Amino acid sequence: MRKGILMAGGSGTRLYPITQAISKQLLPLYDKPMIYYPLSVLMLSGLRDIALITTPQDQESFKRLIGDGSQWGLNVTWIIQPSPDGLAQAYLLTEDFLEGGPSGMVLGDNVFYGHGFPELLKEANAREVGGTIFGYKVRDPERYGVVGFGADGRATQILEKPIKPPSDFAVTGLYFLDGRAPEWARTLKKSGRGEYEVADLLQLYLEAGDLTVTTMGRGYGWLDTGTHESLLDAGAFVQTLEKRQGLKIGCPEEIAFFNGWITAGDLAELAKPYLKTEYGQYLMRLIE
Ligand code: G1P
Repeated sequence: MRKGILMAGGSGTRLYPITQAISKQLLPLYDKPMIYYPLSVLMLSGLRDIALITTPQDQESFKRLIGDGSQWGLNVTWIIQPSPDGLAQAYLLTEDFLEGGPSGMVLGDNVFYGHGFPELLKEANAREVGGTIFGYKVRDPERYGVVGFGADGRATQILEKPIKPPSDFAVTGLYFLDGRAPEWARTLKKSGRGEYEVADLLQLYLEAGDLTVTTMGRGYGWLDTGTHESLLDAGAFVQTLEKRQGLKIGCPEEIAFFNGWITAGDLAELAKPYLKTEYGQYLMRLIE
């Protein structure tokens, strides 16, 4: 069974002073903490065993919010990243947890939205050998991992924050990799910025001919939360859609309920402390 990894480490220095006393992934994105959105992605993929990686100082706050995950039908394992040595390190920290099996990792500040997204996730989950990543066209690829494509349209390279990006397709922070990830992560050397780069790990999958790069078209939203302005924009995007449709984006209670992981009674219990908010009233409406 594939297990989930939610990477919520990092120092969030680009959002200072907001993130001086609170983790970036706990900041509000309109009506819920940022981490609900990537967690929902793992839940939509059908993953219930989830390792949540945090910094030493922030773990307690995350635990107050999520606990052991059982209220949402999840089994959360808490893991600390002692120092921010890069995303590929997540695979070393979760080696025992993964027990040689495949994983789906999402970064705690990545927000996805799009019709057909759950199907895309289920396809990636079903691919047992190799890896699947998602490319998304952006205006500023140099800020991200970038996919380079050959003349035949196949991906040939993954570069981390290249000065001259080979394409406009950024690598989103969502990685489905098979059981070899920890073993290959161990062979990586630190990059120029002193981190074990997930891009280098993906490059190994690519060279082995085992990486599927799925591009998300213009009907998808992959929102940036990395600057003060983009954080506000992302919140406004969520607000606009939720207000218009009366449906929530990134609501773990709702996904747990529709996945059949919790009952209507469980959902009513979860809604109780929230009844003064639209969030709680929404959960109650789901039961009706
Ligand atoms: C990280 C990855 C990068 C990826 C990005 C997606 O960048 O290193 O490859 O495109 O997440 O959010 P970072 O957030 O560490 O700058």
